[in-house]
Amino acid sequence: MLKHIFGAALILALPASSAIAQNDGPAQVSVTVDTSKPGPVIDRHIYGQFAEHLGTGIYGGIWVGENSPIPNIRGYRTDVVEALKKIHVPVIRWPGGCFADLYNWRDGIGPRDKRPVRINVHWGGVTDDNAFGTNEFMNFAELVGADPYVSINVGSLPPYDAAQWVEYMTSNENASLANERRANGRDKPWNLKYLGIGNETWGCGGNMTPEYAASINARYSSFVNAPAAMGMIKVASGATGNVGGRGDPQAFTEAMMKDGGRLQALSFHYYAMPMGRDRGPATGFGEDLWARELDLAREMEPLVSKVSATMDKYDPEKKVALYVDEWGSWYNQEPGTHPGFLYQQNSLRDAEVAALTLDIFHRHTDRVKLAAIAQMINVLQAMILTDGPKMLLTPTYHVFDMYQPFMEATPYPANVSGPNYSQGGHTMPMVDVSAARGKDGKLYLALVNTDPHRSAHVVTNLNGTGRGTILTGPAMDTHNTFDAPNTIHPVAFSGKSAGGKAVFDLPAKSIAVVAIK
Ligand code: AHR
Repeated sequence: MLKHIFGAALILALPASSAIAQNDGPAQVSVTVDTSKPGPVIDRHIYGQFAEHLGTGIYGGIWVGENSPIPNIRGYRTDVVEALKKIHVPVIRWPGGCFADLYNWRDGIGPRDKRPVRINVHWGGVTDDNAFGTNEFMNFAELVGADPYVSINVGSLPPYDAAQWVEYMTSNENASLANERRANGRDKPWNLKYLGIGNETWGCGGNMTPEYAASINARYSSFVNAPAAMGMIKVASGATGNVGGRGDPQAFTEAMMKDGGRLQALSFHYYAMPMGRDRGPATGFGEDLWARELDLAREMEPLVSKVSATMDKYDPEKKVALYVDEWGSWYNQEPGTHPGFLYQQNSLRDAEVAALTLDIFHRHTDRVKLAAIAQMINVLQAMILTDGPKMLLTPTYHVFDMYQPFMEATPYPANVSGPNYSQGGHTMPMVDVSAARGKDGKLYLALVNTDPHRSAHVVTNLNGTGRGTILTGPAMDTHNTFDAPNTIHPVAFSGKSAGGKAVFDLPAKSIAVVAIK
């Protein structure tokens, strides 16, 4: 039985494995939602996305240029813009990632044919003609309706450059940088909502010790200022849940909170990525790798709890927000694709990773106010894949779509009582739940069945019945391809009412989101 409470998940017992239970018929699962204990609102910014100059994430994925035969809106792919608008992407982080700390914003402004061509040393050593720069990104975010989140270079440029970049984007004065922006076609300042002070300063952002990184944050963040009315939030670059070392969650968070200056938000990165060079394939995997990946995704919960607890020591009132601004699955890149492009397929397994992770964020709304999946298009756990003029929506995209009612919803604690799913040394609750009151006043439930074989009969304590959508498929790696882009997509799903309470027959390996009426 697993008990979820805000800020913690307590494993109280580990009963029979699904291997034993496979033939026992549907598992009996009971879900108790406590509507008397609302938690802090689920900030819609936890549904954010990350777009780096990496592989075809930007060029080809977002930007094709005005003269492309691919239908576009001022150079941005029309199909991609429409798909992103549909899921109301709240925030987009750019230009990196590792790319950010070797990026000079001046390379990406002014007439495109005059911009320098640089080598993207981090990602494949390919050239970048800087056709997608500041104006292109800020206008793209505006077009999609997302808040821009720009990460400055603290690794290889002085603070003065970052200060000038912020002024270029945000000033409305009759001053040189604002006038340069005007000359480049943008009259009014953009509304720069988030500013990242570097990226992974413990690693590709400068290999800094925690203490040095904290000083760098204090120094750079004091020089980068937008007009106060804009309310721009400065995000200190934080720890990692993956490699430890200098980015160790405990030591790094401690140093940033103690000596990083006046923090408004602190970032954290964690990928559901096995250690070692062989991370396994994105499709065509066996059940052990299914279970391993879901278990890796579930690691987000103790990591967020640990980082939060460290932050609590210095900030018991929880004024400093935690932004998980890189997360997602990370496998071997697809055979035959460009080395360093991190292109991977996306299957039902990734949809489960997404749902489990979003559920974790829903349980930590006291601290987690923003997150960004890595990455938006064609890179790692992508929302969208493109191939020339072709485009497909991944199972992960569909989860983000299904979860939209949770944006700005009020979460409730939910107790789940039922069997665990076990495979290959990995044990987890068979059913994961998230419950919240949407802005529309309706009660929503997300149900995730992690067992790839066994269905669950879920009995809730909620009056009425539930209707919504479900995402599932015949195989653990069911995915969309450019030839069959609709193989997996959400379909209608309803529960029943038994004894006045909402009950659900939840198929194996599925994710459902329902409104209770
Ligand atoms: O998302 C890919 C890379 O992963 C990012 O550039 C970096 O920040 C992280 O290590």
